[in-house]
Amino acid sequence: MHQYTGKLAVLYQGAEHKQQSQDLAERLSVPFYENVDKECPESFFLCWREGCLKLLDNELLKKGGLAVDIEPRNGEQRSWPAPKQDALAHALGRKTKTVVDATTGWGQDSLHIFRMGYELTCIERSPVMVELLADGFNRLAQLDWMQNLQLQSPKLIKGNAIDLMATLDSPPDCIYLDPMFPPKRKKSALAKKSMVVLRDLLGDDQDKEELFEAAVKATGKKVVVKSPDYAEPLGGKPSESYHGKLLRYDVYLKN
Ligand SMILES: C[S@@+](CC[C@H](N)C(=O)[O-])C[C@H]1O[C@@H](n2cnc3c(N)ncnc32)[C@H](O)[C@@H]1O
Repeated sequence: MHQYTGKLAVLYQGAEHKQQSQDLAERLSVPFYENVDKECPESFFLCWREGCLKLLDNELLKKGGLAVDIEPRNGEQRSWPAPKQDALAHALGRKTKTVVDATTGWGQDSLHIFRMGYELTCIERSPVMVELLADGFNRLAQLDWMQNLQLQSPKLIKGNAIDLMATLDSPPDCIYLDPMFPPKRKKSALAKKSMVVLRDLLGDDQDKEELFEAAVKATGKKVVVKSPDYAEPLGGKPSESYHGKLLRYDVYLKN
């Protein structure tokens, strides 16, 4: 059975993007609907709204939806490159120039890394997230500041990073990992809606250890793992750890 059977459909609601919506449904091998009724078994929908490709669950169906957010984070300086001053920047390190984000997801860490001026390649294995990211990266490329600085959006590679990291042209200075960890409690009031939907759609990443081992092999200098503060370090005792709000960046230096 296909991974999205009965779970996901493409919804077309407006005057624009009809052909793109049909092509998207075909690429993902999921149904194409022009409206949703109680008979529809799916609980997730991809839909163009307000010029962005959005992921909806039943709660977001009436209004809203989740798109890749290309705006700088709260408190992030709107200059390029943004200052490298937070826990993530410290974990990546001052000497790091090239970064591979092997678990791109909603692209929020990737886009922050990109805006701080690192040379970034993104890998994502979920075909749905790849579609959302491609739409976000297209919108990013059209922003005035990107065009004025003649910058290109990060390269996005679709597939399993466990295999793909071994095929990179040259080892990056740093491989960044943020796999999905099981939640501490069933329903965490603190979890962002985008992460709740991602977990509901994709589930936890069961092969994190294998991903870590592959990253250690493929990196030039270090692997950085983001994890919730309650989780055990993914690769055993890290060389260094940097603490953010309810999370940790564990740094593993390559021997
Ligand atoms: C917790 S999310 C990452 C969130 C991301 N850091 C952000 O800021 O939006 C984990 C993502 O990693 C992806 N992922 C997990 N293991 C992977 C693998 N082996 N290869 C490629 N992508 C993977 C999942 O599909 C999911 O989209």
